Amino acid sequence: MPGTCVIGLQWGDEAKGKLVDILTEHHDIVVRYQGGANAGHTVVSGGETWKLSLIPSGILRDGVTCVVTGGVVLDPAAVLREIDMLEGRGVTVGSKLLLSDRAHVVFPWHVAEDRLLDASLSGGEPIGTTGRGIGPCYRDKVGRAMAIRLGDLYRADFPATLRHVVALKQRFLAGGGPAAVPLDADAILADMRRMAARLGPHVRDTTAYLLDAVEAGRRVLFEGAQGTLLDVDHGTYPFVTSSNSSGLGVGPGSGVPARWIDRSIGVVKAYSTRVGGGPLPTEQDNAIGIHLRERGNEYGTVTRRPRRCGWFDAVAARYAARLSGVDELAVMLLDVLGGLDQISICTAYEIDGRRTTDFPSHVDDLRRARPVYETLPGWHEDLSVIREQVGLPGAAQRYVERIAALLGRPVRIVSVGPDRAQTVFRDGDGDARGPAEGGGLPWPRQPAPVRA
Ligand code: IMP
Repeated sequence: MPGTCVIGLQWGDEAKGKLVDILTEHHDIVVRYQGGANAGHTVVSGGETWKLSLIPSGILRDGVTCVVTGGVVLDPAAVLREIDMLEGRGVTVGSKLLLSDRAHVVFPWHVAEDRLLDASLSGGEPIGTTGRGIGPCYRDKVGRAMAIRLGDLYRADFPATLRHVVALKQRFLAGGGPAAVPLDADAILADMRRMAARLGPHVRDTTAYLLDAVEAGRRVLFEGAQGTLLDVDHGTYPFVTSSNSSGLGVGPGSGVPARWIDRSIGVVKAYSTRVGGGPLPTEQDNAIGIHLRERGNEYGTVTRRPRRCGWFDAVAARYAARLSGVDELAVMLLDVLGGLDQISICTAYEIDGRRTTDFPSHVDDLRRARPVYETLPGWHEDLSVIREQVGLPGAAQRYVERIAALLGRPVRIVSVGPDRAQTVFRDGDGDARGPAEGGGLPWPRQPAPVRA
């Protein structure tokens, strides 16, 4: 079967971009199927750094088609900025980029609503969105009455539809006080027409294109944005994004049924990070957190906000691995943990005096969760120069194997730096092998008991 998917198992920013870039070599098509310009991926290739948000990094390679499907909320100005950046640096975009006519368009009012609404959750704690209009655009998609899809921009009734929606939005935004922005329908229409004309050659029915592709045996790579724990249905709601950012989102987002996917890779950072609001049980608001943030350059790609940092949370990641149905793991940024004498992993939570390895469904329970830690020896060697599994110090190998055992999946890939070359591919995986690999262990495996 021709499909691979790459899914983040934490709160986003797991360095999926690098992995996608490596895997792209073995695929014909790369698909972005949910989220929008809230995502940011960084790829370092040949000494050059590329920061992309909506366009898959596969665009940097010849012979690869990049598809942005109907599950994405698409800001035309953001796509055009990326196209201009790429072409300005000598990358031909042309027919390599396809955009779904079903993708919902992010308009200026969505960005304004994002700003107005973020601070108004019940309880007043902001979600800390990226401010890219993602939630309001998805809300209009589901609500239908005020939604406009990319294909609609090319229809004769678009000006009338736009004027109707602007009039409704104007009334909504008027209640927003000083933060409200006036909407000028003529100016928005003129802007949209100009952008639609430029995007026109890329717009098509990508669902039909992808179904033809998988049925013809072409190799397709599905690139998840954000991470499983930000999934709107299964994440730390309401501190989530507005799409299905777990592995469950591939089918609805792309139009390609999950039966075409034969390899699902779960990507974790060797520690935890989160940007924006919501609980992060293993957060280290101390010297450890600063060590991780500075060594890991943990500042948002899109917003440059400092990320909250903490120890690896195996309870959360195991839940995410099961939910996203991943068969193998990639552990990224392992080098960042270097220089610490001891490293902790959270193997269980204690909630109201009860110990559990289940991830709570209510965010208030997660807030009360006290992490139960297991401590492993750290290492001081520089991992960033290591290219082979055997070169990894024993303590680093044991740490990786512990993650595999706790999540019940083998770790196939370890990343020790941002460059493609700074990657260790692992073959042996001890007792973390799944049944498909002859390991004979039933999945899902339970984490090993926690030492008191
Ligand atoms: P939104 O997606 O802009 O609505 O933001 C909702 C939450 O998801 C906020 O906590 C954001 O910081 C977070 N978020 C959205 N996109 C990303 C991402 O690509 N990486 C990490 N966090 C993200």
